[in-house]
Amino acid sequence: MENQKLSRRMSEFNRHTLGFKLTIERLSAGYGAARILHGISLYLKQGETVVLLGSNGNGKSTLIKSVMGLVRPTAGKIFLEEEGELYNLLDHPTEAIVDMGIALVPEGRRLFPTLTVRENLLLGAYRRAARKERVQNLEFCLQAFPALADRQRQLAGSMSGGEQQMVALARAFMSRPKILIVDEPSVGLSPIMVKQVISKIEELKAVHGLTVLMAEQNFNQAIGIADRGYLMVQGEVAFEGKTAADLLNNDFIKQAYLGG
Ligand SMILES: Nc1ncnc2c1ncn2[C@@H]1O[C@H](COP(=O)(O)OP(=O)(O)OP(=O)(O)O)[C@@H](O)[C@H]1O
Ligand SMILES: [Mg+2]
Repeated sequence: MENQKLSRRMSEFNRHTLGFKLTIERLSAGYGAARILHGISLYLKQGETVVLLGSNGNGKSTLIKSVMGLVRPTAGKIFLEEEGELYNLLDHPTEAIVDMGIALVPEGRRLFPTLTVRENLLLGAYRRAARKERVQNLEFCLQAFPALADRQRQLAGSMSGGEQQMVALARAFMSRPKILIVDEPSVGLSPIMVKQVISKIEELKAVHGLTVLMAEQNFNQAIGIADRGYLMVQGEVAFEGKTAADLLNNDFIKQAYLGG
């Protein structure tokens, strides 16, 4: 019954557009007794950059981890519609979700500090399919991140925060994703580095046709590259901006995050 409904909706979707769409529907999730997400609904279409705004502890990472299969939601759906196929992400482990073309740049970067840049990048190709092509993918990746080519032998832990964020982005790129999910890339970075990281994301989009979902607290920068976005407050969507301008003009966002 549910599946019938889903496939009906899928064919409606395909009538209007080609390409894929990731949909999160009435998602609830938490940790043990702590309920964090309360019926969140949002979507991401091919080619878009969507920002998830929200201050500390409002559930951005929990939502992202749910998409990647790292947190098991208690209710709701997450599905990817593509070329007449419908994938229910909740039925799949993280590995399979990465195989579908979704890659995560996790909060806090999560590099292996005592491994070299090259070794960290190669770990981005942990999927069986990607492992076979990891040398080609590394080349592809270093072309996209030429600044890292000369740094391949440097230990990741010895790099600056901004450089580490670039390595984390590059590592996600190693799986040749179509959807890149980036969790708060600007944390701990100087304004100049934030700009560089954000423009790298823009460039990856433009050159490689990536679709991007990005959680950020650095509203000014994030809104700069967003097509649209959502404001999350206490595990719910408090505001949906259909355009970047909607977000900028929202009174709550203006007061709380943009300094007036
Ligand atoms: N593993 C965990 N176990 C228990 N509670 C958790 C766990 N991870 C997160 N939480 C709680 O879930 C809530 C939402 O956290 P989450 O990390 O999703 O927020 P966030 O919006 O990403 O915040 P930030 O901007 O600080 O990264 C917080 O109250 C947090 O303490
Ligand atoms: Mg977070």
